[in-house]
Amino acid sequence: MNDRLVIAIDGPSGSGKSTTSKGVARALGLAYLDTGAMYRAIACAYLDAGVDPSDTAGVIAATLGAKLEVSTDPDVEKILVNGTDVTERIRSQEISTKVSAVSTVPECRADLVARQRAIIDAAPNGIIAEGRDITTVVAPDADVRLLLTADPEIRMARRKRDLGGAIDASSLADQVLRRDRDDSKLVNFTTAADGVTHLDCTELSLEETIQAVLDLVAATRG
Ligand code: DC
Repeated sequence: MNDRLVIAIDGPSGSGKSTTSKGVARALGLAYLDTGAMYRAIACAYLDAGVDPSDTAGVIAATLGAKLEVSTDPDVEKILVNGTDVTERIRSQEISTKVSAVSTVPECRADLVARQRAIIDAAPNGIIAEGRDITTVVAPDADVRLLLTADPEIRMARRKRDLGGAIDASSLADQVLRRDRDDSKLVNFTTAADGVTHLDCTELSLEETIQAVLDLVAATRG
């Protein structure tokens, strides 16, 4: 039996994917990949290159030419683009607003998907990867595939809490609802594809959500 375990989790902004995935990774001794952080780091790269978000050819060139180094340790949040540590910057309002110029371009997605597959394949004990297209595009053959959703009000409240409360209502709606609307034009992450388990965590605590994923893993592995 192959002990290597690959878990794929998709879902909209603020559904709790990152925190849940890190908890599951720690519990099972797996690596962890935040694919959204990679899209965000690429946004830093095109902005640093002086490219305007509307210049799609420029955004594609900045994507293909970017050197990305991302931590897959659930306890170490670190990402470098072109040698610069952007771990904190990728969470800024500016990057949250401008990342869609990367995530809505098929050429950029194809490049990042290839990089994500390479990272997943390289994890010796296995990995939990989360994003929008992991269950469907990046790792459709993952051992466990899960769509994690929650009601929009809950997702906005969680995102606000993650940001330490420092965000006004319209920026919050932009970060959660507008971005999901834009991103869902290319990727369907609102309904579970065939073979993908849907978990609505609106009424679940973080611990309950982690446990639900662990139960699903146990059921899958038999
Ligand atoms: O999950 P997040 O908010 O950090 O994601 C950042 C952006 O990247 C967001 O606009 C969604 C997009 N994204 C994507 O399109 N596909 C992924 N696998 C991960 C993120």
